[in-house]
Amino acid sequence: MRYIHILEYAVYPHLRKRLAMASYEIRSMTLEDIPQIARIEKMVFPAPWTEVAFRSELEDNAMALYLVLTNEALPGVVLAYGGLWKIFDEGHITNIAVLPAAQGKQLGKLLLHAMIQWAWANDLSHLTLEVRTNNHKAINLYKKSGFVEAGIRPGYYNAGKEDALVMWLHREDQERGVSAVTNMGSGGDNEVRE
Ligand SMILES: CC(C)(COP(=O)(O)OP(=O)(O)OC[C@H]1O[C@@H](n2cnc3c(N)ncnc32)[C@H](O)[C@@H]1OP(=O)(O)O)[C@@H](O)C(=O)NCCC(=O)NCCS
Repeated sequence: MRYIHILEYAVYPHLRKRLAMASYEIRSMTLEDIPQIARIEKMVFPAPWTEVAFRSELEDNAMALYLVLTNEALPGVVLAYGGLWKIFDEGHITNIAVLPAAQGKQLGKLLLHAMIQWAWANDLSHLTLEVRTNNHKAINLYKKSGFVEAGIRPGYYNAGKEDALVMWLHREDQERGVSAVTNMGSGGDNEVRE
């Protein structure tokens, strides 16, 4: 998969109303996107990934998928990006971020929903992530998208000073419209950084 048009996805109806759908595109991240992404990282995360880290993800990690969201009115400008690692039938979301000036406009939700649709279309059955327990914005985004809280990893961030909330989304539950309480499950060594 190299290029995704949002309209190929079953994006939730309320998003269709709130966004000029035709003008947004979600596609695979390229090496050319990385300098911009590294700049956004520094703006939004206390422990940003470097350009080298992203390059390595794109060039060396066959399990990784990274997407960017752009708008045709702003050619070449990355508005949001996110990634996941495919591990057996689980997708481990490593990061998701929206350019600060573009936050609060449903772009994070749109990108996350595209990642979810990609995961189900590529035979994944579960998605998981970690998020700082005080990142209410992100936690709200994940809950709105169907993720449920599954446990706490104490001292996961900042050299043991901050806890991580572990969340899961199970395809079966989502398809049945169930918001089930889940177990911790396997894996979880990734983190969604802040
Ligand atoms: C978290 C983040 C990805 C959300 O993206 P966004 O485009 O700003 O969010 P959206 O406009 O798509 O909103 C999606 C949901 O997030 C929640 N949300 C968004 N802004 C919020 C705010 N200021 N306060 C509380 N919840 C908020 C809401 O539940 C919202 O759904 P709603 O509009 O139906 O109520 C974005 O703010 C960001 O990049 N933050 C910095 C990086 C980060 O923390 N990434 C996550 C790491 S775990």
